[in-house]
Amino acid sequence: MTPDDMKREAARAALAHVESGMRLGLGHGSTAKHFVDLLGEKVRDGLDVICVPASEFTHDQAKGLGIPLTTLDETPELDLAVDGADEIGPALGLIKGGGGALLREKIVAAAAASMLVIADESKVVPVLGRFPLPVEVIPFGFGATRAAVERIAAKLGLSGELRLRHQPDGLVFVTDGGHHILDCHFQQIPDPAALAAGLSTIPGVVEHGLFLGYAKGAYVAGSSGVRFIGP
Ligand code: 5RP
Repeated sequence: MTPDDMKREAARAALAHVESGMRLGLGHGSTAKHFVDLLGEKVRDGLDVICVPASEFTHDQAKGLGIPLTTLDETPELDLAVDGADEIGPALGLIKGGGGALLREKIVAAAAASMLVIADESKVVPVLGRFPLPVEVIPFGFGATRAAVERIAAKLGLSGELRLRHQPDGLVFVTDGGHHILDCHFQQIPDPAALAAGLSTIPGVVEHGLFLGYAKGAYVAGSSGVRFIGP
């Protein structure tokens, strides 16, 4: 199985949780894309769900597949959010935002009674932080916000390069919300809760990619099949 096959199998496992009548949150990324594809097939076969996409990309994909869509204004409470992750650590703590959609992903996950993560085995780590932590920041005052992130990190004994994310064409990456992403290369985040609390005190930080206490389970696919990681 290729890593992409694994992502599709994890997505297929999560689909078993979906029933007619559900209000779903749809994540963003290559694994979430598989979930939306498979969901589209079920909808074609008569599954009756209504969905809130967490990105413009997922919105367009789901719309193209004929999946009924709504917004959190019309449907503020969801039954289940299904999304990928960049890292799955202890206690189902996550790093997300590699695809730049972390703000909407977190809003969607927070609106859902339950969140299921889908991933290939490479995403499971003993300690979060090998994947650079994405922090979504307001462009205004970027230098001051970056310095504040550095100070918070230093207090927790974290160091590493903080890199403003750019697109392949060299332009600064802009999120669906019009913000920038600061990728924090800490390598290891031994106390994610303390870092999350610290980042949340910085006015220029819109949101960060630490998803702590959101996931209720994860389907993780490897070469020998799909396993479930529970709470
Ligand atoms: C996007 C995300 C994605 O879920 C995360 O980057 C995983 O992506 P992929 O499924 O492509 O590996 O958080 O902001």
